[in-house]
Amino acid sequence: MTQINVGKPVLGSNFIGRQDELNYLTKLIQMNQNVVIIAPRRYGKTSLILEALRQLENEKLYSAFIDIFSTPTLESLSSEITKAVLKNHKLDEIFAKSKNSALAMIQNLKLKTVVEDFEFILGFPEKKENDWELLWKSIDFIDQFPGKHKKRMICVFDEFGDVGKLDGNQIVKLFRSKIQLHNNTSYIFSGSYESVMSGLFIEKQAPFFRFARIINLGKMDKNIFLEFYKKQLAEKEIFSNENFLLSILDFTDGHPYYSQLALQELIIFHALNKKLPTFDELIERLLLIEKNYLEKSWEEISSRKELVKTVLAVCGTDSQIYSVLKGTGINTSRALKTLEMNGTILKEGKKYEMSDPLFALWIQLNLIKKT
Ligand SMILES: Nc1ncnc2c1ncn2[C@@H]1O[C@H](COP(=O)(O)OP(=O)(O)OP(=O)(O)O)[C@@H](O)[C@H]1O
Ligand SMILES: [Mg+2]
Repeated sequence: MTQINVGKPVLGSNFIGRQDELNYLTKLIQMNQNVVIIAPRRYGKTSLILEALRQLENEKLYSAFIDIFSTPTLESLSSEITKAVLKNHKLDEIFAKSKNSALAMIQNLKLKTVVEDFEFILGFPEKKENDWELLWKSIDFIDQFPGKHKKRMICVFDEFGDVGKLDGNQIVKLFRSKIQLHNNTSYIFSGSYESVMSGLFIEKQAPFFRFARIINLGKMDKNIFLEFYKKQLAEKEIFSNENFLLSILDFTDGHPYYSQLALQELIIFHALNKKLPTFDELIERLLLIEKNYLEKSWEEISSRKELVKTVLAVCGTDSQIYSVLKGTGINTSRALKTLEMNGTILKEGKKYEMSDPLFALWIQLNLIKKT
């Protein structure tokens, strides 16, 4: 049964829509193509990747999923890579448990066999190797382990743009020099900070230029969510009117996370009050729930006057941005580029709009209407 899911990646029957993207991604994987997925925050990158891997389960591929966001140090990056690779033989937990003791590692017979072939694994408990050596050996392990077992590997680095927080340049160089020689592995990189991803993959001088096919993930189809809303509400015997649902989906504007969040709040409100909220009551709830996130998003923009003015203009007008900002003395095209590259705005046709509809409303309420 399909369920409402807010915040965590969705897969299986909970994954809705995105069929074209999913088919494209699985085809690329089957053709051993490396892929990069770029989208603003909460647009469904992780869900898309995990669902593609799930659908390919029958093909007996090996897979490894590494979330760079959760690897604060070089050592943790190496150990997460090794663990993710070992997971294909269900040895991830025993590896994690025995990571501080070489003895414990070889007491498990299955892990011992792997350690005999890939001695670097003992480097984790023994700490003899330096962090860089451990990292390059872990990266090679991604390709050598499936090679040994005559399998293909799909290796995902989620939030890859986040490597910058480690020794970014060095790591990227290392990755590049290693993985272009990997014959058994296809890589999927995903990230939300577009300028970082573009600096890594898209620009001509980028270290991974032409290394991977780029998928830009956009907003989702509202009709898919309309069907989902109707079904979920009907299951819970909540009566609703289609126009009301459409007004909510017009607001969330194909943003997957907010579309799910709004539905969840509808149902919670109904359970507590025995009736549905009004549109305004619902939006007020969403603003309250996301208060910290929205304030933090604003903080990231507010330090640069040029960006502030441009964002206010994007949120506050339907007219051409250039004419609105004319005479303000700011470099509009540079500001638009920066905002596009950090995922704050998107270009729809000729118009710029915010990638986050709730953030756009928050700005209108807190910064435009007040002044
Ligand atoms: N295909 C989908 N079907 C249904 N809901 C979805 C889908 N994709 C995303 N969502 C909703 O959006 C939320 C965020 O999805 P996900 O974590 O995959 O996005 P992300 O782009 O990886 O986000 P982040 O930037 O936080 O890493 C999910 O918890 C879910 O509520
Ligand atoms: Mg994610």
